[in-house]
Amino acid sequence: MVHEVQGVVARAKGSPVTVESIRVPDPGPGEALVRVQACGVCHTDLHYREGAITDDFPFLLGHEAAGTVEEVGSDVDNVTPGDFVILAWRSPCGTCRSCVRGRPWYCFASRNAKQTMTLLDGTPLSPALGIGAFSELTLVDAGQAVKVNPQARPEAAGLLGCGIMAGLGAALNTGGVTRGDSVAVIGCGGVGNAAIAGARLGGAHTIIGVDIDDRKLRWAKDFGATHTINATRDEPIQSIRALTDGNGVNLAIEAVGTPQTYKQAFFARDLAGTVVLVGVPTPETKIELPMLEMFGRGGVLKSSWYGDCLPSRDFPMFIELYLQGRLDLDRFVSETISIDEVEQGFHKMERGEVLRSVVLF
Ligand SMILES: NC(=O)c1ccc[n+]([C@@H]2O[C@H](COP(=O)([O-])OP(=O)(O)OC[C@H]3O[C@@H](n4cnc5c(N)ncnc54)[C@H](O)[C@@H]3O)[C@@H](O)[C@H]2O)c1
Ligand SMILES: [Zn+2]
Ligand SMILES: [Zn+2]
Repeated sequence: MVHEVQGVVARAKGSPVTVESIRVPDPGPGEALVRVQACGVCHTDLHYREGAITDDFPFLLGHEAAGTVEEVGSDVDNVTPGDFVILAWRSPCGTCRSCVRGRPWYCFASRNAKQTMTLLDGTPLSPALGIGAFSELTLVDAGQAVKVNPQARPEAAGLLGCGIMAGLGAALNTGGVTRGDSVAVIGCGGVGNAAIAGARLGGAHTIIGVDIDDRKLRWAKDFGATHTINATRDEPIQSIRALTDGNGVNLAIEAVGTPQTYKQAFFARDLAGTVVLVGVPTPETKIELPMLEMFGRGGVLKSSWYGDCLPSRDFPMFIELYLQGRLDLDRFVSETISIDEVEQGFHKMERGEVLRSVVLF
């Protein structure tokens, strides 16, 4: 059977998104059909609409979602109908060169549904990040549906599916924060503030949030920043050193994606410290650094893809921490909106008014 439901579609580069009737097939082998309960508006959805990711219009947007499994195809044993799940854009294949080396969190051949969702005229839709969850129903690879405790509120749980996981994981998985560390996070949007929450969970004693917007810095304090720096008023490198006995931090996390902020992260860390790049740069950007500093400062320069997460391991664990009151996912939900307000959600995000607007179905 094919299901006809409403979904948010980006038809052409730069055009406002529209709510359209779409067709979602029943799940085939290895696939799961998920009834979406909540889906956050992420910057990456806007990047798709602007044609900044690929030209494969039309896109079915939405990818930070939680919902319940409606139906599964054959050969599915990780979920059954009725399960509460968070959708992940990583479903490790188990056979690529990274998976066979025992590093499934880097999987180079992550799986998605094989069948396509379409417009009513049969035009295939490209689901954002292989998910497409601004839709009442979506079809994913069953491995993308990760079962978690159903006591979690869907609007908070779904956010773990992308940006919040990216930030938590940048601190905990990629950056390896441990107790007593000093950490600076440059860029305190949803991702950066999640990195701050992750640094606190990991036991960091000094957590410095840097942004150009005082509202973001107030939120950074709520998530656990011990100090904040507004980069329009105070020079970040000197200010971070001043807060760490003149030395710099053990871990500097870049959550903006520009050469300027990357250099700040590079120079604001202590000798033998770590830089984690989680912000996504644009294709034309280049960076120049003194090579002697790269050697002389030692340490580690890393990038973090999706917080190096293993969804089946990390999502249920973070949901338990949330239910225990140790990770405030609710605080990332700035507002809940309906499916026809996604375009306004993009504008609020651009104006810096929200951490996340979340569509409730
Ligand atoms: N690596 C990954 O897997 C992954 C996953 C999701 C998102 N991201 C990326 O992470 C980045 C942040 O995402 P987000 O959702 O938090 O975006 P966002 O727009 O909410 O946050 C960016 C923040 O950076 C601040 N900022 C801008 N210029 C600055 C400067 N010069 N100095 C300090 N702060 C500055 C902004 O005020 C804003 O608060 C984006 O590049 C996004 O694409 C990466
Ligand atoms: Zn793999
Ligand atoms: Zn996202």
